[in-house]
Amino acid sequence: MKKIAILGFGVVGAGVADLLTENRDNVSALAHEEIEIKYILDLRDFPNSKFGDLVVHDFSIIENDPEISLVCEVMGGSHPAYEYTVRALKAKKSVVTSNKEVVANFGDEFLALAKENRVSYRFEASVGGGIPVIDTMINGISHNKIKEIRGILNGTTNYILTKMFSFGESFENALKEAQENGYAERNPDADILGFDACRKIAILCAIATGNLIPTDKIHTEGITGIRNEDVAAAEKLGMSIKLVARCIINGDTPFVTVAPFIVGKDSPLVNVSGVYNAVEIISEPLDNIMLYGRGAGAGPTASAVVADIATAIRLGKCDAPATFTKCDSIQSFDDFKCKRYVAFDKNAEKEVKRIFKNAIYIDGDECSLICGLMSEGDFNSLLKDLKFQPKSMIRLL
Ligand code: HSE
Repeated sequence: MKKIAILGFGVVGAGVADLLTENRDNVSALAHEEIEIKYILDLRDFPNSKFGDLVVHDFSIIENDPEISLVCEVMGGSHPAYEYTVRALKAKKSVVTSNKEVVANFGDEFLALAKENRVSYRFEASVGGGIPVIDTMINGISHNKIKEIRGILNGTTNYILTKMFSFGESFENALKEAQENGYAERNPDADILGFDACRKIAILCAIATGNLIPTDKIHTEGITGIRNEDVAAAEKLGMSIKLVARCIINGDTPFVTVAPFIVGKDSPLVNVSGVYNAVEIISEPLDNIMLYGRGAGAGPTASAVVADIATAIRLGKCDAPATFTKCDSIQSFDDFKCKRYVAFDKNAEKEVKRIFKNAIYIDGDECSLICGLMSEGDFNSLLKDLKFQPKSMIRLL
């Protein structure tokens, strides 16, 4: 029998406690041991919960209890999650987390500490909710040469885009529904401004390359600038707009970004709707694979957390699944080459056509066009020659 503690009894913490209890037999079959929750750490009390008696408010009770072999950190945010993780690892307790913010910020330090103390640090649920993408990358394909990872990695924004553009809902209502369903971050700016997807692609990039890129080095755009006119233009082209996180590996320095992309019917990402996430991984000689599933919510996230808890317990000591090194060397966004959809005011048309000579123009009330393959730097230089600025610019995948 292994005894564990859960830090945080929110949507994910409650989902983990339920899954460990309700699927007890399946979980112990995977762990090769019975697992018992001994403590739940939270600031609040839960007198009406069946787990209410397990609640403690002082982390040192968990830290100093030799019976606790694993701590499941599902609090979210950097602090005190960082401090509790360090203290748990130093107390030789394995740590499992769904917290992408701490993994993206401190994963290198936690993995090193786990190795030093001969315990596990696992974080499957930090990317893609219930999708076992990290396990697949480490155990299924790491012997291939990874060329690119492109993913829809934020359930909230994909849910909002789907509700707004396929069902005509307002941004505010769609966001409220995502919050009610437990998909959104405490501060939903992390979702809608792209920071959450940025943390997740930083983690996947680190799994692929060993290099943990600081998130402030990653060019990140959210979904707040997408207009109904842009969606209509994408639909006219038989395409769709998605928030896509990309890591392109070509040589020693990866290119990493998060931004809205116009996705064509030839990409499997085009059909990923609602809270679903998908990660497409292109590698040699395997070629393309795509993993797809619910990217947020109690049940899917708990599934990934509990898989890590069971695996850490089964594998026992000395199982840090990866090594990360902090590295801020990344390809300049100015060099990123792609085609672009650009929309200007109708009265800019004459001048725009003079500058973007070989573009494909889309009929409509605005002057909108698809311009040919060029780098970000070249595109921005062309804009400097115009006295009109675009209303929108969305890159094509
Ligand atoms: N807010 C996140 C999302 C939760 O919407 O994807 C899962 O990481």
